[in-house]
Amino acid sequence: MTINRASKSDIPVLCQIEKKYPDYCLWGEKGFLAEFDKPFSVTLLAKAEGEIVAFLNFWLIRPKTEINTLVTDTRHTRKGFARALLNKCFEYARKNDCPEILLEVAENNFPAISLYSSLGFNEISRRPKYYNNTYDAIVMVKRIDI
Ligand SMILES: CC(C)(COP(=O)(O)OP(=O)(O)OC[C@H]1O[C@@H](n2cnc3c(N)ncnc32)[C@H](O)[C@@H]1OP(=O)(O)O)[C@@H](O)C(=O)NCCC(=O)NCCS
Repeated sequence: MTINRASKSDIPVLCQIEKKYPDYCLWGEKGFLAEFDKPFSVTLLAKAEGEIVAFLNFWLIRPKTEINTLVTDTRHTRKGFARALLNKCFEYARKNDCPEILLEVAENNFPAISLYSSLGFNEISRRPKYYNNTYDAIVMVKRIDI
């Protein structure tokens, strides 16, 4: 596995991967493209045998790191790609003095909640019926040593 920063030419593949999760909020080409204009935004890719299999976007806004999206291709789940991307995000957070790492996850997204909990994220608040006016958003935080 390799992990690198995404470039604009990767956007079509990122769009294909996120489309495999119809219930997940899609960024689409415009959404990904907009991130390249933000100096505080980082989009990372995980590749296996040269193929993009997962991606993560986060913002480094001192002292916070905000995780915005994380998706693993349906053909490559449970192989540790999301965990590896998050661990790389923690390295960025440490180097950029952004130790408070925040994210939001739907209360019915058990794979993601399990992943984040296993990496030391804890629930700090909820936004009631935030997703589709049905599911709460759980706000989770992890603080890393810098
Ligand atoms: C959530 C998601 C990113 C996980 O990606 P992944 O690459 O499969 O995750 P990993 O293989 O790194 O899993 C690491 C750990 O997370 C937990 N986990 C991941 N998927 C899980 C599942 N389906 N059920 C239970 N636990 C799960 C486990 O603890 C796992 O460790 P283990 O495999 O050693 O038991 C992936 O399912 C996905 O893309 N979902 C759709 C998009 C999404 O919901 N993103 C999160 C938005 S907040």
